[in-house]
Parts: sequence; C-alpha cells; structure tokens
Amino acid sequence: MVRKLIAGNWKMNGLKADLETIRQVSAHVNSGETAPETLLCVPATLLSAAAETARGTALAVGGQTCSKLEKGAFTGDISAPMLAEAGATYVIVGHSERRTGHGETDAEVAGQAAAALKSGLTPIICVGETLAEREAGATLRIIESQLRGSLEGLETAGSFVIAYEPLWAIGTGKVATTGQIAEVHGFIRAFLAGRYGAPGNAVRILYGGSLNPSNAPEILPVPNVDGGLIGGASLKAADFLSIYETARALQV
Ligand code: 13P
Repeated sequence: MVRKLIAGNWKMNGLKADLETIRQVSAHVNSGETAPETLLCVPATLLSAAAETARGTALAVGGQTCSKLEKGAFTGDISAPMLAEAGATYVIVGHSERRTGHGETDAEVAGQAAAALKSGLTPIICVGETLAEREAGATLRIIESQLRGSLEGLETAGSFVIAYEPLWAIGTGKVATTGQIAEVHGFIRAFLAGRYGAPGNAVRILYGGSLNPSNAPEILPVPNVDGGLIGGASLKAADFLSIYETARALQV
C-alpha cells in the first residue's frame, strides 16, 4: 500500500504566532510506515522557523511555488535551492491559484518541477478543471493535457506527487463527489501507469478542494486517493490532525 500523504497548503496565511500550529501538529504526528506522512506548506517567510519548530518530528515543511531558474534578476521570485536551504523538503507547483493568478503554464510548471527535483525537493504537481470545463464534459481531456505538459521531461516516477484539485471545489465548500474523485484519480493512475510502468502505481495522487474533518472519512478511502492537499482546514491544528487521524486509521 502506498503511504498516504496529508499535506496542508497555508497559501498567503501565517505569521510568527502561527508557528504554534506547527508546534501542535508536529508534537502529535508519528513517523513509521503505518502512519501517513505529514507536510505543511507555509509562506516562504515562515519556512526556516517552521522547519526549526518541526525539527526532529515527523512533520515536513514545504514551499508553495518555486522558480524554474536557480537565481538571477527575477524580483520577488523564489528558487528551489532557497526553499531547500530554508528547510523545505516539498514544494507545490502549478497550483491553480498560480496558474490563473500568475499565468503559469504547463511548460512553466514542468520547469518548476524539474528545478525542485534538482534541489532535492519533492514537487507536488497540481492539476484540475474549471466548472465550465466540467460542465462541457472536458474534465478528463483537460487533466490529460495538464499531466502531459506538466510532466514533460520528468522521466522517472517515484520522485513527485500529483494533486487533483477541481477549481470549483477550492475554497468554496463544494466538494467533488466520491464518484467524480474516483473517476479522475483512476484516470490519473492509468495515465501514470501507462507512462511510467509499475512505478506509476506508487506515485501518490492527492485530492484537494474543501477537504475537511467531516468529509475526509468519505473521501480518503476512495480508490487511488493517496492523501489530501488541504487549504483552509490546514490552518487549525485540530482540523488538520483530525484529517490525519482519519488517514491513519485507513493506513493500517
Ligand atoms: P481548500 O481546502 O481551502 O478548498 O483549498 C484547497 C487547496 O487549494 C489546497 O491546495
């Protein structure tokens, strides 16, 4: 069985006072094969302190995006080596809020994933359709094209994670049905197995989009759901840990 990954995306939330949440989460989570892996992707300004707070525990910390380049005249951007030096071990790339708000293309995302890998970070590559695309019956076509573009140049599986985040379910309180999730995750699995062979079956596929303590017991057992990428509910230790416990019960 693939070890589940319960990951939080704090987005543009988090000041020093919120390190208390990191402390509470890291004090609770367990290491070992029967426990899910846990990760909180915090704002870059908090990375070093969060890594320090979580040091020696099973909680990993990660970034929320990175440049495809290592350094240079790119005001405001952050590179993968910078994230790694600050203590990140993962980085989210291609989140829909970056794709839509910052014009990041599949090619850009593929470059970011490659840069992350080069710095020893595990990229979490996000894909997802809009409501209009779903209503037009184009969901699987969109997912396939995002996967093809965003995985361009990534020749081996095992070093990255995929997150399926339907845009209409992000921050809306609307959750995809278990049938919709099963269909897309099954499709992503078949794509990965087709492209990478057996190692494609071990790539973790996370669901993201209004995942919370109440719906986690229904969503996390869906076939090919290997964990979650959690926005709002990752900001409170109790909520995040409740989802973690749900995953832990499924892991054994
Ligand atoms: P919400 O859980 O707040 O819907 O956010 C999901 C998300 O975008 C995680 O990356």
